[in-house]
Amino acid sequence: MTYAAITGWGKCMPPAVLTNADLATFLDTDDEWITSRTGMKERRISHVPAIEMSYVAARRALACAGRAAGDIDLIVYGSCSYDEMVPNTASALQYKLGCDGAAAMDVNTACTSFLYGLSTATAMIRTGVVKRALVVGVELISRYMDWDNRGVAVLFGDGSAAVVLEATDEPIGLLGETLGCYGDARGILRVRRGYGATYANANVTFGDMLWDFDGPQIFKRAVQGMTDASAKTLQKVGLRPEDIDLVVPHQANARIIESVAKYAGIPMEKVILTVQKYGNMSAATVPVALVEALEAGRVAPGSNLLMPAFGAGLTLCSHFVKWGARTTPVEASDVELPPCDKTALELVNEIRATKDPRGRSLAGIEAAYYVDRKAYGVQ
Ligand code: ACO
Repeated sequence: MTYAAITGWGKCMPPAVLTNADLATFLDTDDEWITSRTGMKERRISHVPAIEMSYVAARRALACAGRAAGDIDLIVYGSCSYDEMVPNTASALQYKLGCDGAAAMDVNTACTSFLYGLSTATAMIRTGVVKRALVVGVELISRYMDWDNRGVAVLFGDGSAAVVLEATDEPIGLLGETLGCYGDARGILRVRRGYGATYANANVTFGDMLWDFDGPQIFKRAVQGMTDASAKTLQKVGLRPEDIDLVVPHQANARIIESVAKYAGIPMEKVILTVQKYGNMSAATVPVALVEALEAGRVAPGSNLLMPAFGAGLTLCSHFVKWGARTTPVEASDVELPPCDKTALELVNEIRATKDPRGRSLAGIEAAYYVDRKAYGVQ
């Protein structure tokens, strides 16, 4: 039987750090509220497009696996904050990496996109469609944020990570998962855009970002969905909660994670937490936490990992991964992001200052690009 081992992993975090105190300079909020309700202290704001972050993460994952770009047959790009709508972003990553001829697809299930992508790539390897795949989780939420809305602006951050999957005869990698969606609740977390146009080359997104966000309802459904999916997954793979060595959950709120761990019967000592320093990076959250768990030596050869997550949709899932023998990189990559000469607050204030003629806030890093909108026939 064929399985899909995770043989490479790498993350790319943008360097600019936005603190709770920074948010309080333009929102009616404070560190005490954000910390006590969410567990978040800081998040990152990217100075580059998502494709740049995912490129660096992917190069690091390839080096970690000891593989060249040409070894990859499939790229799955998990995200809900694309630089462009068409063509897909996986094709840009394929081109930039030099994975010539590799299949390239985007997966958007919001915060669960990386894990849905892991399911997709694993299934393609296990059925012999491809032999090696790159799965990316990346988000550039800062360009899609309604920075005037304190109910959402404090919760999210940017980041990226990637893994390499390879066919193997050993029973390791993703061995069981549960996928689902509460479609009836899709209206409680929606991001709509007034103009709906993005331009990757211009490193800018145009549009009024309208967030529908019912925090308390999302909270309840997230706990229910992640707990139910985890129980089903454990049943499928024939394991008990005490057999799990490490939980690598989606990180939308520390209190959600604590509730899921409690209902799943797994102590918090076995849960990796990154929400305090990165906030909710949507699709990037789980892979970044996985990479950090490996870097911290919290994944041992043969470890049993459980990865519960939920996202807009409301999509939900829980993945069981059996780790292989190697927990250290084969090689390191020296690829880096270009330096950032602005603070995170300066980057956010640039986005906030970008206005359309009616004075509404337009997400985008360069106000000047607004003029170009007309060239694209956008009213
Ligand atoms: N600062 C200060 N006060 C605030 C802030 C803020 N940033 N945001 C909201 N408040 C106020 C509200 O206005 C409200 O005031 P009121 O009582 O005077 O009306 C009060 O705080 C309580 O608001 P609630 O929404 O009830 O607070 P709650 O304890 O539920 O926490 C939170 C809100 C943190 C959003 C929580 O509900 C949550 O984490 N929900 C899940 C969110 C989530 O997971 N999002 C990710 C989705 S995943 C994806 O795919 C994108």
